[in-house]
Amino acid sequence: MTDEREPVGVIGVGWVGLVTAACFAELGHRVVARDILPEKVEALSRGEITIHEPGLGELLARNSERLTFTTDMDELLDAARLLFVCVDTPPTVSGDADLSRVRSVVEDLSAGGGHALVMKSTVPAGTGQSIRRDLPGVPYVSCPEFLKEGSAVEDFLHPDRVVIGSDPGDEAAGDAVARLYEPLGGEIVRTDVSSAEMIKLASNAFLATKISFVNEIANVCEEVGADVTEVARGMGLDQRIGSAFLRPGIGYGGSCFPKDVSALKMLAGNSGYHFQLLNAVIEVNELQKRRVIGKLQKHLGPLLGKRVALLGLAFKPHTDDMREASSLVLAARLEGEGAEVVAYDPVAGDVARNLLGAVEFADSPLEALDGADATILVTEWPEFAELDWVEAAGRMARPLLVDGRNFLDPALLESAGFEYEGIGRAVDAPVQAQPAS
Ligand SMILES: NC(=O)c1ccc[n+]([C@@H]2O[C@H](COP(=O)([O-])OP(=O)(O)OC[C@H]3O[C@@H](n4cnc5c(N)ncnc54)[C@H](O)[C@@H]3O)[C@@H](O)[C@H]2O)c1
Repeated sequence: MTDEREPVGVIGVGWVGLVTAACFAELGHRVVARDILPEKVEALSRGEITIHEPGLGELLARNSERLTFTTDMDELLDAARLLFVCVDTPPTVSGDADLSRVRSVVEDLSAGGGHALVMKSTVPAGTGQSIRRDLPGVPYVSCPEFLKEGSAVEDFLHPDRVVIGSDPGDEAAGDAVARLYEPLGGEIVRTDVSSAEMIKLASNAFLATKISFVNEIANVCEEVGADVTEVARGMGLDQRIGSAFLRPGIGYGGSCFPKDVSALKMLAGNSGYHFQLLNAVIEVNELQKRRVIGKLQKHLGPLLGKRVALLGLAFKPHTDDMREASSLVLAARLEGEGAEVVAYDPVAGDVARNLLGAVEFADSPLEALDGADATILVTEWPEFAELDWVEAAGRMARPLLVDGRNFLDPALLESAGFEYEGIGRAVDAPVQAQPAS
């Protein structure tokens, strides 16, 4: 049965590529995955996992016989017809999407090989049309990825929807991609290439807008004495609004939202349209990371010489991804104010050490809190909810906690002896359980 399934080629073995490769192998396909980094390919070929992603290790181990990792493009081209492009598209200094890696993949291909390009990388609308012009005779399908780091395997295997964009002439390639996804369920949205590209950018921009919106509501709640947890609960029950992404915090980060919002804003600008709303979304997000400093100063005065512990560094729990993490801005601002910064993260410590040169790293949350004048909960790792907060308070020079994710129970923290500051949270208000977003 395995041999009857369409072999799959994956180009770029990062978060999206490795999850795509592992999941298609799980569905019974033979997968050849190519990356340009020999050390990554060697590690994966030895069975070592290069990223922290729940469930991925088991999937890779279970399907190792169907998976080949290589640096050799020819090996990939010989093995598979459908080539899933999963290379990174980081921002350029201008804020546009950097398509150089996508371009280099296109340069490796030629017409007549019987291949079809399936773009999973997030690219500006119009990219597919331009690649089709440059690469006539190679069918092109846009199949943007919507997985979330931290639940990437689950998301891939149980998609809300699968978007497949193909233009006239390339429908057969679109049909072939649709067949690959059929066993997963989830609505398959067939559309044209440019619309598929826009669906991805618009979805991320909308989610980022929701986050910045609720962050502003939280900031107003602080001024007027309302509790944003209650406000968001009351709003979220309206089906037109929904409760997802209505959790205030210290701003969104990660490898996608910041760059995709910027890329959409620039795409609009380059096309002659001024996307005003996204300017505000970006600015609110930047300011939100910095508001935490003001909260500390309210209690401690100048931060010069104060020791501040960061609990969590990754941009979200269940990942070691530090790209655009709010912790990077926080650490820099604290150091700029003359504070001493100590940090703990259950999995992102190794990655973070290279990015946060002046920060001291602790081996446990309690060790991070030893002698600290304040702590900021940056990432809502479940283990922080289980911490012995009475012992934590005893270890700190001053038990002050800024809960950057509204993750902890203020009443519990206060009974443990903490001064508690959330985001837009009235201290005496009832506490609701906080589901992870
Ligand atoms: N990370 C996410 O949560 C996520 C979710 C949805 C969509 N996306 C999009 O998917 C794309 C990939 O994101 P990622 O986070 O997986 O990136 P990543 O940086 O983790 O991985 C990209 C990989 O591509 C490799 N690569 C670069 N050029 C190559 C080439 N010419 N040939 C082969 N390999 C090459 C790199 O070495 C790297 O291993 C981006 O466009 C991103 O916006 C990411």
